[in-house]
Amino acid sequence: MARKGIILAGGTGSRLYPATKALSKQLLPVYDKPMIYYPLTTLMLAGVREVLVITTPKDQESFQRLLGDGIAWGMSINYEIQNNPDGLVQSFLIGENFLDGEPVVLILGDNLFHGQALVQELKACDESLKGATLMAYPVRDPERYGVVEFDESRKVISIEEKPNFPKSRYAITGIYFYDSTVVERARKVQPSTRGELEITDLNQMYLNDGDLHVQIMSRGMAWLDTGTSDSLHEASSYIRTLEHRQGLKVGCPEEVAWRKGWIDDQQFETLASGLLRSGYGEYLLHILGKGELKLL
Ligand code: TTP
Repeated sequence: MARKGIILAGGTGSRLYPATKALSKQLLPVYDKPMIYYPLTTLMLAGVREVLVITTPKDQESFQRLLGDGIAWGMSINYEIQNNPDGLVQSFLIGENFLDGEPVVLILGDNLFHGQALVQELKACDESLKGATLMAYPVRDPERYGVVEFDESRKVISIEEKPNFPKSRYAITGIYFYDSTVVERARKVQPSTRGELEITDLNQMYLNDGDLHVQIMSRGMAWLDTGTSDSLHEASSYIRTLEHRQGLKVGCPEEVAWRKGWIDDQQFETLASGLLRSGYGEYLLHILGKGELKLL
């Protein structure tokens, strides 16, 4: 069964006000491209070609204008609305028809992953079609996240949402792999005291059934936050530094689609030609070997 992907790109983005008063957070640029390109390419690198983008009612049209139906990238991109930010678990209820009983990978629209081991680590998560597989990342401030506790053999002992006294430094990141029982389980999740359908409660169900796996992301990986002005600026600088140094772009869906063979040279060149007035379009032509810098 092919795993389907959901990008949850709703929310209020209130920590970025006034920047997000009229524009969705996930459309703001992280250096040279819209934020949602990064989680989208992460899904593509995981081999996902069928994606559902969940947005607020007011932003749906903008996302459709940006991403279209995905055909130009050899994909299928679908859209649904979340009326209120009532929690991450709603993704599976909203996406029930789209999922049609298949396993899913959910990624938050403001989460940015980068690193040499990314493809390999995504592949390892994707391999298990039974249960849930999450990724954990050591952070300085675990109390802001879902926190996972392991025993010596790296088996999960507990997961807690934003604990006052975290039992480990490992935060659960915003990418979650679930089997086809996810919708049925999501229906059983009750709103928390803050009124949200919490992903930690869903994960707890998998843990109770002995079906929760958590993979620790390697140190060399970056998992970046973009929720505040400072973290957004830092993420932009990180991407800018990497791209300037290497002359290679991070989070470029056209490039990933082409490298995966989902589109051919001709289709890729057509996409590049439409973007030539920016460095982004020039870059696409360069990697195709039509520019002055031919890459191997
Ligand atoms: P948050 O950063 O927790 O919320 P937010 O984006 O609304 O920002 P703020 O706290 O500044 O108001 O959400 C994490 C991601 O999940 C983000 O991409 C928005 C998305 N989200 C939804 O789309 N729907 C929801 O119900 C929730 C809780 C989050």
